[in-house]
Amino acid sequence: MRVPVIAGNWKMYKTAAEAAAFVRAFLPLVSGAREVEIVLAPPYTSIGAVARLVQGSGIGVASQNVHFEDEGAFTGEVSTAMLKEAGATHCIVGHSERRQYYAETDDAANRKVRAALAAGLSPILCMGEMLPDREAGKTFDVVGRQVAGGLKEIPAADAARIIVAYEPVWAIGTGKTATPAQAQEVHAFLRGRLKELWGGAADSVRILYGGSVKPDNIAALMANEDIDGALVGGASLSPESFAKIVTFH
Ligand code: PGA
Repeated sequence: MRVPVIAGNWKMYKTAAEAAAFVRAFLPLVSGAREVEIVLAPPYTSIGAVARLVQGSGIGVASQNVHFEDEGAFTGEVSTAMLKEAGATHCIVGHSERRQYYAETDDAANRKVRAALAAGLSPILCMGEMLPDREAGKTFDVVGRQVAGGLKEIPAADAARIIVAYEPVWAIGTGKTATPAQAQEVHAFLRGRLKELWGGAADSVRILYGGSVKPDNIAALMANEDIDGALVGGASLSPESFAKIVTFH
């Protein structure tokens, strides 16, 4: 049994004060939520505030990125130890916006996954095809390469701590969700690749869907065998809408 994960990726939204106001409104709305792991991914500057406010609630806190070195002359970057100290439990790696705007490669994503695991953070490794890839019938090629590259040389013993997120780039922030069948097809493909890599341990990996997840489409997505949760952008910014997604069943 895989416990679903519903993660909210706030991207570059919310100051620390706004993040705190969100958490205060959100906590009572999800206090009855069972059998779901909730993760909030605020910008770096709000991680500490969010972590303090969710303490004792079981809610996880993710960064949206991380550097793979322990420390050094890397202006503008943040290390795993800094994130841990601020209260993070997870970190998003390889989001398509990082890949598109900051040239993040599968190799960098792999180094970040390893750094996160070494520090005791659960990585949420994102992948997904662009629209021309899908139209050219290359979806499996693209995500196959991303999953193999991002998880290269990571042992089966770490599988249960890794979360994978399939986010078709054409569905992110566009209002165009993949149909549940389109998502399930890719999730099943990814599960197959994880099995080749890790054998039976692949069954414990949560594979999240991301891309225009909303309160009105979460249940249909979650009804699929290999869809184990969601990575939610826009609809995670309001406590009410994110709470509806978390408590979809
Ligand atoms: P969206 O973003 O829900 O706004 O489409 C998802 C994401 O980028 O993780």
